[in-house]
Amino acid sequence: MLCSVLTLFPEAIRPYLDESILGIAQRMGRVRFHLVNIRDYSRNPHNTVDDRPFGGGPGMVLAPEPIFDAVEDVERSFGAAHRILLTPRGRRFDQTIARDLTQHEHLLLCCGRYEGFDERIRLGMSWNELSLGDFVLSGGEIPALAILEATIRLLPGVLGHDESAEQDSFGSDGLLDHPHFTRPRVFRGMTVPDVLLSGDHASVERWRRSERERLTRAAASTTRPTPRNEHSRPERNGASDPCEPEQD
Ligand SMILES: C[S@@+](CC[C@H](N)C(=O)[O-])C[C@H]1O[C@@H](n2cnc3c(N)ncnc32)[C@H](O)[C@@H]1O
Repeated sequence: MLCSVLTLFPEAIRPYLDESILGIAQRMGRVRFHLVNIRDYSRNPHNTVDDRPFGGGPGMVLAPEPIFDAVEDVERSFGAAHRILLTPRGRRFDQTIARDLTQHEHLLLCCGRYEGFDERIRLGMSWNELSLGDFVLSGGEIPALAILEATIRLLPGVLGHDESAEQDSFGSDGLLDHPHFTRPRVFRGMTVPDVLLSGDHASVERWRRSERERLTRAAASTTRPTPRNEHSRPERNGASDPCEPEQD
């Protein structure tokens, strides 16, 4: 998979991409990162890529020309991409979207800054608009890294057998992960549940499943959807609560 990232701060994200699972995925040849500095596509002698908003108001807006030029240049060199525009108004990113993204050969993520994008960047090109959540960051770099990491760790072979993504939260059964314990057996008066020390694998599996269901139910009951989520963006992409009995 090739992941092109358009950003004003390639040097801020490169070190993270080279570490841990993302670094391993690169060394395995499962993924390549192509970082593009949007400023390289500035059309003026001052190398700026933003300008004041028409109509007045605070802040600067990312101009359309450098973004169009950068996207077209990347796609000329590496082929058409599944384009992702990072924006708070996009669809909220989740594990289902991460799984879908693993199907693409070339992802192109475009990170905004300042007050965001000139609207014609959205209107003049087709994008999948994604948000990391209902809050505002100063740029799209952290959302881009989160999306890339969540996606790339799902590519076959990237995680070792012991850390298989299927055992994580939001796997195919939709449940959260169960609690984990390691040594020591007693830490500051807190003990490891007896069942985990019993050596009885069937009982351990039963305990883990019931903990996963309990935690999933508890999380669902504390999630209070905001009116915006309720009316325009289903939290679970239409999936039913995995802990609720099936309706017939
Ligand atoms: C300061 S923000 C712009 C916020 C915009 N004026 C608004 O209120 O929606 C600058 C850039 O950060 C990125 N960004 C900020 N919050 C984000 C979020 N929750 N999800 C995805 N990208 C985000 C976007 O690329 C955005 O263009």
